[in-house]
Amino acid sequence: MAVIPVPERLLHPMEFPRKLLMGPGPANAPPRVLAAGALPLLGHLHPEFVQIMDDCKSGIQYAFQTENPVTLAISGTGHAAMEAACCNLVEAGDVVLVLCAGIWGHRFADMVDRHDGVVKKLNKPAGETFSLSDIEQGLRAHNPKLLFVTHGESSSTTLQSLEGIGKLCHKFGCLVVVDSVAALGGVPLLQDAWELDVVYTGGQKVLSCPPGASPISFGPAAMKKVKSRKTKIRSFYLDINELANYWGCDGQPRRYHHTGPISNIYTLREALSILAEETLAKCWERHAKCAALLHDGLRQLGLELFVKNPECRLPTVTGIVVPPGVDWKKVADNAMAKYRVEISGGLGATAGKIWRVGLLGYNAEPENVKSVLSALKEGITLQKKSHL
Ligand code: GLV
Repeated sequence: MAVIPVPERLLHPMEFPRKLLMGPGPANAPPRVLAAGALPLLGHLHPEFVQIMDDCKSGIQYAFQTENPVTLAISGTGHAAMEAACCNLVEAGDVVLVLCAGIWGHRFADMVDRHDGVVKKLNKPAGETFSLSDIEQGLRAHNPKLLFVTHGESSSTTLQSLEGIGKLCHKFGCLVVVDSVAALGGVPLLQDAWELDVVYTGGQKVLSCPPGASPISFGPAAMKKVKSRKTKIRSFYLDINELANYWGCDGQPRRYHHTGPISNIYTLREALSILAEETLAKCWERHAKCAALLHDGLRQLGLELFVKNPECRLPTVTGIVVPPGVDWKKVADNAMAKYRVEISGGLGATAGKIWRVGLLGYNAEPENVKSVLSALKEGITLQKKSHL
């Protein structure tokens, strides 16, 4: 048997460049959040840690504007929260109507298929969103048990209006799941007032935490569906009954289910404190102002926004049309190499066609908007002069 030698690189410190993360996430985390992540570990059922989990729960209820008792953070990234919504609510044969205006709908549809649900898709081209009448037609045509909608479609940089969707779905006996990974905190979302049965987000976007703990909330109708399932939930790790117990949401003594990501929960607690100090209304306003500043600056550079309808533009992730003859990647590479500023390309249908600039949480500040604008201007000018 070969002896595996000590990996040489592990004997040296990590190389660690500081970067300004102005893509669609992760965003940079504030020093307070990073410091929280460096605190000593506690046990995952120690009373002090349980108190931190309870603080997170009330912070998530505030961020989502919900009184749902089953509100917690999934141990995993936003994808794990998406899987949790799917595996708890979908049983074999259930019809699920998925609104697809970018990659996230298709991803949820893939998960539904893995749970033997019956996927029906409503599609829109990248850059457009769904009207209530589009959704009503889909509900009438397919009679689904569940509807999936992406609030902030980061791949096509659209903001889907959610108002009225919950009420409409409930009229048709259908539950609604909202992916607000890229939007929550940057634009209004009122889970209870808008009758949204399940909402989830990620930690690494507006909340500006390290990825790894993802807030989610199940409303009473969603829990009723979970409790009346005919078949066992096909994931132990993401079983909402088990998670609700671990998070103290079911009034029962907490049992060991899994070991929570302790340091991630500390950082989430700190990020939720920062949001509480700023308040939701001010956080929404800061994102709107920074997005307006970015949009103005882009117009001055002669650049075009990808989403034509101003009401459908996602303030947290802006799509910018790459002008003819410009290589988006060379511009992004120049920004990274010279200024350590991350500017992303498109994703899915928008790949190669747009740049995506994130204004997420801690990074949604006017000086960061200026850095992005000057990096874009320099990259495009250099390329036009064929220097790149
Ligand atoms: C990830 O969320 C992305 O939009 O690239």
